[in-house]
This record gives sequence, structure tokens and C-alpha cells, in this order.
Amino acid sequence: MSSFCRPDLRWRLAVAADAPALVHLIWAAYRGPASYDRWTSEEHLVRGTRTDERAVLAAIEPAGSEMLIVHDRDDGGAPIACCRIADRGRELAHFGMFAVDPERQGGGVGRRLVGWAEQGVADSFGAREIELEVLAQQQLLRAWYERLGYAATGETRPFPAHPEYAVPVRDDLLLVVLTKRLGDDDRR
Ligand SMILES: CC(C)(COP(=O)(O)OP(=O)(O)OC[C@H]1O[C@@H](n2cnc3c(N)ncnc32)[C@H](O)[C@@H]1OP(=O)(O)O)[C@@H](O)C(=O)NCCC(=O)NCCS
Repeated sequence: MSSFCRPDLRWRLAVAADAPALVHLIWAAYRGPASYDRWTSEEHLVRGTRTDERAVLAAIEPAGSEMLIVHDRDDGGAPIACCRIADRGRELAHFGMFAVDPERQGGGVGRRLVGWAEQGVADSFGAREIELEVLAQQQLLRAWYERLGYAATGETRPFPAHPEYAVPVRDDLLLVVLTKRLGDDDRR
């Protein structure tokens, strides 16, 4: 794994003014043409816009939900990656809306952000466990999360089809739930 950008990466919490940039970042990573030839491409699985400003604001503004933005140290805070962390109660947190600018993928940004998110849910919500969902059809992505310490719980959830955000290309889409126990190192 290349580390060309890692030493100069920073993270910050998103604010409402970040919503337009985050919508574009998430669209580019999940749906834009630059995503088509990437190993996480969903082109053959899902169409639609993926998100909009209202959905991003709903991830930023309520208590118990935050979006983390990764940016270059000297670049004014412009987002190159993001994720949402949310408090589910009972020491469980949820991780989602995870996207890295396609031009910056493969350089360790995503792995770094997962680590920050794990620390963030422990610090902000007192979480001891973090969960995420991955499409059952995205086996390479699931394998990556497993390398990061996540494991399938056996639970599956219906794919959240939406006429604007998420239009299934096939009718067997399913979300697999993965979780990870957070150790003392994540509760700094
Ligand atoms: C998933 C995503 C956030 C990862 O971000 P990233 O910055 O590229 O991640 P990293 O560079 O830290 O790690 C990439 C990993 O993919 C692996 N990888 C790269 N190309 C691969 C390929 N063709 N096949 C399988 N694995 C591959 C790398 O080896 C690396 O694994 P490692 O950490 O074990 O070394 C990014 O690809 C993305 O935004 N995808 C679109 C949105 C998405 O799918 N989000 C997740 C939804 S559950």
C-alpha cells in the first residue's frame, strides 16, 4: 500500500457548509464515471444519485450523528474522504457513507479513516462495538473489512432501494452486517 499522502492527512468534523462538497465526493466515489473501473464499483449493482444535501445534513446536524472529513493538511480543509458515525445506543455505533475521492483511492486514506472513525465512536459515544453494512455482492470489499478486523454477525438487512438515491440493477441485493469490538486502544 502506498503511503504518499498519509503523513499530511488530517481529519475534522463536517459542518453544514460542507454538504455540497460531500454530496459531490460521495457521488464521485459511488456513482461517478471515475468509480466504474475501481474495485469497489457498484455500476453493475446500483444506479441513482446515492445522496443529496438533505441526506448529508441529516447525517451532520442531529445529536448522535457526525460526519468525519479527511483533508490534506495544507489545503484549507477540502474533503478528500468522508464517513458518517452514528450512536446506536447500548455502546454500539454505526459506520457508513464512507467514500474516498476516486483520484485518492488506493493510498491508505480509507484505512486511516476507518481507524479515526473507530476512535471517534469510542470517544464521542462511548461505543465498544462498531457496525457497518456491505453489499453481499461486494466480496472484495467485505474481505477488506475483514482484514481490518470486522466480522460478519450473520445478520442481513434488505437493500434500501430508493427511486432517486439507490435504484437496484438486480433484484437480489442484500446488505451483510459486519461488526468489530473496540479495544482499549480505541478508547483513548
Ligand atoms: C472503499 C474505499 C473507501 C476505500 O478507500 P481507499 O482509500 O481506496 O482505501 P485504502 O487505500 O486504505 O485501502 C484499499 C485496500 O483495497 C485493496 N485493493 C486495492 N485494489 C484492489 C483490488 N483490485 N481488489 C481487491 N482489493 C484491492 C488494497 O490492497 C487495500 O487493502 P489493504 O488496506 O489491506 O492493503 C474506496 O474504495 C471508496 O470510496 N469506494 C467507493 C465507495 C464504497 O464502496 N464505500 C464502501 C461502502 S461499504
